[in-house]
Amino acid sequence: MTYPDLDSRSAALNGRARQVLPAGNSRSSVDKSPYPLYVAHAAGAEVTDVDGNRYVDFNNNMTSLIHGNAFPPVMEAVGKQLARGTGFAMATEVEIELAELLSARVPSFERVRFMNSGSEAVMNLIKVARAYTGRPKIAKVEGCYHGSYDFAEVSLSNGPNDRREREPIAKAYCGGTPQSVLDEVVVLPFNDVATAEALIERHADTLAAVMIDPLPLALGMATFEEDYLSALQRVTRKHGILFCLDEVVSLRLGFRGAQGHLGIEPDLTAIAKVIGGGFPVGAVAGSAAVMSVFEDTERGPAPMHHGGTFNANPVTMTAGLAAMTHMDAERFAALNGLGEGLRERLRGLLRQHGVAGQVAGEGSMFAIHFHEHPLRRLDDVWGTREAHRMAQFMGDFLLNRGMWMLLRGVGGCLSTATTQAHVDELCDAVEAGLMDADFPR
Ligand SMILES: Cc1ncc(COP(=O)(O)O)c(C=O)c1O
Repeated sequence: MTYPDLDSRSAALNGRARQVLPAGNSRSSVDKSPYPLYVAHAAGAEVTDVDGNRYVDFNNNMTSLIHGNAFPPVMEAVGKQLARGTGFAMATEVEIELAELLSARVPSFERVRFMNSGSEAVMNLIKVARAYTGRPKIAKVEGCYHGSYDFAEVSLSNGPNDRREREPIAKAYCGGTPQSVLDEVVVLPFNDVATAEALIERHADTLAAVMIDPLPLALGMATFEEDYLSALQRVTRKHGILFCLDEVVSLRLGFRGAQGHLGIEPDLTAIAKVIGGGFPVGAVAGSAAVMSVFEDTERGPAPMHHGGTFNANPVTMTAGLAAMTHMDAERFAALNGLGEGLRERLRGLLRQHGVAGQVAGEGSMFAIHFHEHPLRRLDDVWGTREAHRMAQFMGDFLLNRGMWMLLRGVGGCLSTATTQAHVDELCDAVEAGLMDADFPR
């Protein structure tokens, strides 16, 4: 495989796509210059593109496929459901079953409400928090991605210099974002306890929620320090602000999500991706008290009305139930063990070849950084120009070695379909990249 190849079928399809789709696609995250790859089919941990190139899948549709592609139990269950119908303006039993499964696993998930994407989950989390507290603002951490709701996007393109003193500014991500949106978002500095706490204290009366993603991909899987997490929990509780997690990705870290191993019980959590078994999904989960905003009372109608033609559609619910049922605690342990082994091997390769670097990630997720500054602040996460050049080289190199990755080609995630042989293939490819004469040092 040689990318780019302007004579490839992917390149030709993209030329055609650009005549009818702006930028040639419907999803900025699959775009790639000079053209994105077009898939023909996929099974388990392997994907084949329309030119017949085979890739080991370390992307798993942006972390959503915890069992890899076309997982047989999901295919079988969905096949049966398709014959029974795909969506009705009536409730279904399978929606209850998936909610029961999630609720039985994660203590903070007393009630669950389904929708169709992680972006919708975050949007509804924010709306629930506003409806419950009667306050307008949210706080989020600089640079973190939480989907495409206006309020959640604020600061996504913030760099380390987008600060006033130590306080990050609320910078718009999309052209035309109203100033009123920016005014309702308090942007917290990553891992800076004192400044974050002071900001929350200052806006406490108007803050509905503080939301964090326990393993932010946009920050290269840098982790939150314990004292930062406890400070956020302490100050939110003190002021009746809801402490919220975006576990759209991090739910794949364990049987009880990231909150299980962090020992956190948030008021609300946005979830998505793995719980849909490969189909579009999102959900908000939280305490019965907070989630009661969806319920009518004797005093009047529910503060939060929430419709949606495809919410909890039976195809997604069936796929999600099959996927999650097959993801028991032992499977999580085995998958995470494979992930730990991979991260260790990658660290060993960097050491062995004298390349300054580190491997971030937890559970089934990993990200290579070509510098050794501990990933404590946004500046560290951004890295140096040399680090960027190395990552760029390695990302291109791995793609041409048939590795389908995340995070500009140097991060990824595993699925239950990933075998030791796939991990070996990746490590061999990384080693070849490090030894390549053109690897920038
Ligand atoms: C942390 C996080 N939140 C929210 C979203 C949005 O989810 P979706 O793409 O399903 O809208 C994503 C997507 O990658 C995400 O990583």
